[in-house]
Amino acid sequence: MIDQTTVNQILDTADIVDVVSDFVSLRKRGSNWVGLCPFHNDRKPSFNVSRVKGIYKCFSCGEGGSAVNFIMKHEQMTYVEALKYLAAKYHIEVKERELTDEERTAQTERESMLVLNEWACQFFEDQLWNTTEGQEVGLSYFRRRGFSDATIRKFRLGYSPESRTALYSAATRQGYSRDLLLKLGLCKDDNHGGAFDFFRSRVMFPIFNIAGKVIAFGGRTLKKTEPAKYFNSPDSPVYNKSSTTMYGLYQAKRAIAKLEKCFIVEGYADVISMHQAGFENVIASSGTALTEGHIHLLHRFTDNVTELFDGDAAGIHAALRGIDMLLREGLNIKVLLLPDGEDPDSYAQSHSLSQVEQFIAENEQDFIRFKTGIVLADAGTDPVKRAKAIDDVVGSIAVIPSEITRAVYVQECAALFGIQEDVLLRELQKRMRRLRDEEYKRRQREQARQQDTQAAPAQIQQTTTPPATGTTPPPPSQPPVPAPAIVRRPTQVRLTDIVRQERDVIMYVVKYGMCYLCDTAYDDGTQQPTTVTEFIQSEMEIDQIELSEPLHKRIFDIATAMVQPFYHDLEAYKRDTEAWKQDELRSRLQNLDPTGLTSNDLQTREQEITAAVEQQVAQRIDLYRQCYLEKRLTSHPDDDVRDLATDLVTEKHQLSKIYTQNGYVATEFDRLFTLVPKAINAWKNAVIADKIRSLQAQMQHSGSTAESAQLLQRLQELFRVRSELAKLIGDRVVNPK
Ligand code: CTP
Ligand code: MN
Repeated sequence: MIDQTTVNQILDTADIVDVVSDFVSLRKRGSNWVGLCPFHNDRKPSFNVSRVKGIYKCFSCGEGGSAVNFIMKHEQMTYVEALKYLAAKYHIEVKERELTDEERTAQTERESMLVLNEWACQFFEDQLWNTTEGQEVGLSYFRRRGFSDATIRKFRLGYSPESRTALYSAATRQGYSRDLLLKLGLCKDDNHGGAFDFFRSRVMFPIFNIAGKVIAFGGRTLKKTEPAKYFNSPDSPVYNKSSTTMYGLYQAKRAIAKLEKCFIVEGYADVISMHQAGFENVIASSGTALTEGHIHLLHRFTDNVTELFDGDAAGIHAALRGIDMLLREGLNIKVLLLPDGEDPDSYAQSHSLSQVEQFIAENEQDFIRFKTGIVLADAGTDPVKRAKAIDDVVGSIAVIPSEITRAVYVQECAALFGIQEDVLLRELQKRMRRLRDEEYKRRQREQARQQDTQAAPAQIQQTTTPPATGTTPPPPSQPPVPAPAIVRRPTQVRLTDIVRQERDVIMYVVKYGMCYLCDTAYDDGTQQPTTVTEFIQSEMEIDQIELSEPLHKRIFDIATAMVQPFYHDLEAYKRDTEAWKQDELRSRLQNLDPTGLTSNDLQTREQEITAAVEQQVAQRIDLYRQCYLEKRLTSHPDDDVRDLATDLVTEKHQLSKIYTQNGYVATEFDRLFTLVPKAINAWKNAVIADKIRSLQAQMQHSGSTAESAQLLQRLQELFRVRSELAKLIGDRVVNPK
């Protein structure tokens, strides 16, 4: 499929911060980046990204991995799809052969659907720009509406011709299956084994997911007589109306993250006209009510949302509906009512950018204040209605997660309602208690449901467990022995001591496998610099021990196989770094201002600069060594390898920071020389302890004194080996750095 060189190039080029930023808005915090986790309903930023490690990790839900993992998980892609995605992002050419028929059928349905949708999108675009019908009907319509050609291309608008089977015929000629066309809703079954186009004579609005793939279409009729103005694609494996995307999010996401604000409008045309007018942080709910899925998606990009509504009664009514859901999510909501009779589309088309900006600045209202104003005006002076209005507003404040925000609103609303603040506050506390109770009950119901489903397999087991009658089946005449009342489920898999120690050793391999550990002295008197992986390998050979856990062994084999390619790549990297060093030195020395310096001073300054640059070079090489294996293992095609490597890298290790007496913080990396032999030692000890235990058990059951004596001898040997362990390691290590 994709060759290893390309894979390495992709892994070395992909910058995790950059990759994740396409989907999550990240802020710098210390040496890491943080944001809201896209994999669970995150309200505080628990999603951490480390550029140096090339790893993301959510400290709340535990999800973590490399850039490849992120794309796989987030975009629901396979490993190969994710690599191709990254290759495309960084303009890396992926050399690939034509798929065989077998491979083509093996392609996942989802993948094929995305391919077909992309093809259809191009088909509609081609019809719009390059056919007479498309130009005369579709293109002229868009232009009449004031969409520029650039805008039409940016949103990839298209035209679906009047002919019954224009798309169907073209698609099947290209080899796309009827089944897929039907599933995507591009065509409808004609009940005679064929199909006809769903979006006939409509202008087409492709809908993109946040990665920019076409996942659905909206088609607008141009005929007044058509009952439905818009046709939309049905839900499919690539499109879920209520959660996958919001119209325009793909085009808007960068602007939203940058401006830290998003406008929500109703329709396709509103988004497009606002974009064209210069507002790129605009998305549409597409005429449906916002769902939690939409809001969660949106919250990944910003905390601040302004909803735009028509200024008429219906618009105001719409503004009051559904907004509690946004508040509950912790978003800051504002509303903007447009002048009566205008929608964002018409307003943006008929005003300049600065006019629209001014209008927004003057009319945007905080939602709670807006709601208070409306319900108060409705209630008038009627005390019963006023009480109900207060209750209504308090209900909205109660769902806001931030205590500070709630307090501010209580203060403000009390003033607006003309009542005492603590009256409102008591009301609010009552409301919140009720919400908490409801939430508590909901959770309990959920837990009960989960327990029910967990109990189910045990019950099935109970009734189907065959009678325990050994190897011979019961004679047919005999009634089956009832199954035991309690079915013992296998106890949780517990890591044995050995496996736990192995895991520790493997952790050092994954994190520091290609780092320099020490020099090894050989019998011929030579000394060789040795990496962590090589050191562990020689230790295992000398003591003839093997990793017992197959996955550990697999990872270790991958690491040892990479040692040679690593040295080769390291040489190339050193050459590059040397070239960088020369450039850097030259430019720094040139910039050195000699005025007022004695020749001695100058010499000292030059030496300082050289030392600083050399230190940088050393750091770069250390970093290269540190990342080399880690990157390849955390992005490995084997799911198990990748998962364990990711766990090992992201686990907060107790020893990762060690405070020495003089306050200097020694990192794990600084102390590899001590930590790695210690881990190996602990592993060997566990192996020997295990052997000792089994020998002792044998001795208890041994039949003869001769046998016992033999066992005892071996036991003593093991004790001796155990005490030798530390010394053995010490012997082979020379010259720690
Ligand atoms: N909509 C729909 N089906 C309809 C009508 C509307 O799916 N029969 C959705 C579309 O996503 C549309 C949005 O609701 O964009 C808002 O509806 P409307 O304001 O009528 O559409 P506009 O996008 O403003 O379209 P136009 O200005 O071209 O009439
Ligand atoms: Mn409209």
